[in-house]
Amino acid sequence: MSVQDDLIDVLIRDLRALRITLTVDGDQLRVGAPKNSMTPALHKQLTDQKWALLERLKQAESWPESSRASISSARQRIEYLKKSVRSQDNTVEFWPCPGDFWLYDEILYQAMTQDEVRNAVYRQAFQHLVKDKVVVDIGTGQDVVLGRMCIEAGAKRVYAIEVDAVACQEARACVAALGLEDRIHIVPGNALSAHLPELVDVSVSELIGVIGSSEGVAPVLNDARRFLKPGGVVIPLRCVTKVAAVRLPAALAERPHFATMADYYVKQIFRKVGASFDLRVAVRNFPKDHIVSTEAIFEELNFQDLMALEWQNRFSLQVTQPGRVDGLLSWIELSTMEGVTLNSLTQAISWLPVFFPVFDSGLEVLPGERLECVNQTVLSEDGVRPDYRIRGQVVRAFGESIAFEYDSLLYEKRFKNNEFYHRLFDSGPERR
Ligand SMILES: C[S@@+](CC[C@H](N)C(=O)[O-])C[C@H]1O[C@@H](n2cnc3c(N)ncnc32)[C@H](O)[C@@H]1O
Repeated sequence: MSVQDDLIDVLIRDLRALRITLTVDGDQLRVGAPKNSMTPALHKQLTDQKWALLERLKQAESWPESSRASISSARQRIEYLKKSVRSQDNTVEFWPCPGDFWLYDEILYQAMTQDEVRNAVYRQAFQHLVKDKVVVDIGTGQDVVLGRMCIEAGAKRVYAIEVDAVACQEARACVAALGLEDRIHIVPGNALSAHLPELVDVSVSELIGVIGSSEGVAPVLNDARRFLKPGGVVIPLRCVTKVAAVRLPAALAERPHFATMADYYVKQIFRKVGASFDLRVAVRNFPKDHIVSTEAIFEELNFQDLMALEWQNRFSLQVTQPGRVDGLLSWIELSTMEGVTLNSLTQAISWLPVFFPVFDSGLEVLPGERLECVNQTVLSEDGVRPDYRIRGQVVRAFGESIAFEYDSLLYEKRFKNNEFYHRLFDSGPERR
């Protein structure tokens, strides 16, 4: 089953959800769409994928068969992902950041549910902080994983809010199957407009992005303080995003590319946004010996207080290794309580470090030289998730400083705008 087949499965599933019907008439694809269900993005996909859809529909006599095809390919993807997440395989790979686009599917939910390293740090905090308490779980996801852990740790009851309608349905089914309906109440909708029947003692959530703030945790948790009794507790405690200068490993520097599975999610993001663009990239298995400078704090979120939504911070990175520098790497250190922290650079977890291709053709540096940087975090056009604008200069041991700038925007409009992205998208996916 190829990525193209997967894309067709997902498109067919989405069309079914919108009650859009497709029928074959010779070489024509006839589309029946309820009023207002056809968007320009969907229309473009139908045009682009016309021949693949015709082929698929000719194979399948009826919708139920094609939906079975969709299920089996989703299973294959889950198996692939489980294998790739769990394997000791040290392959260094670029990945997109689906969470930044609130893109969660069965595979990504399962990856989080089964991320034992992540869950262990949450469980530890719950064991200390939720016994006999009333809890709100913000963004509970399809498996109600944090809500259920709270119940296991002795919480009285949990209000589990979820904005995604499909995940919400799954969450209800999960709670019913476990006979927990009297203890876990699923609250459908956006936490920003949700109402709970009572104030709660503890707020729990995992809305943390690959850059701590990139999925919009700050405005959501700022607003969620209204759910808390005075003196209420917030889990997690804080998230620090660190940054350092890096040299890409040879395989990625010579031929930047997405592996097949990662490429599937790149396409899903492009579909969701309705365009191809230079999206933020993360790196799996980044080798620590390719960090070529000291590290600094890129951002610090303290969930115990109201957080700023826009800010500016300066940081300085001292070069520690001679050679080429390709850009900056950022990673998170997430603490669920004091002394209980996980790290997306040193641990294999659901979050990956992010690579900013600042010096897209590479720059030779010497120990003792410095990168003086300013990051400006500003809300993107959706008013919830931020953009990051990095400006700086390389202060040379000899000669003139070199100025640089790099924008990591959520809704980047440009495509193949620099040498790095040109090569990334022209290489095509690597089949594994
Ligand atoms: C990273 S997932 C975490 C899922 C689950 N809590 C876990 O730990 O595995 C974030 C979830 O929060 C949901 N979400 C994001 N923003 C939300 C909001 N403003 N209101 C309600 N749910 C939200 C997403 O749909 C997604 O299911």
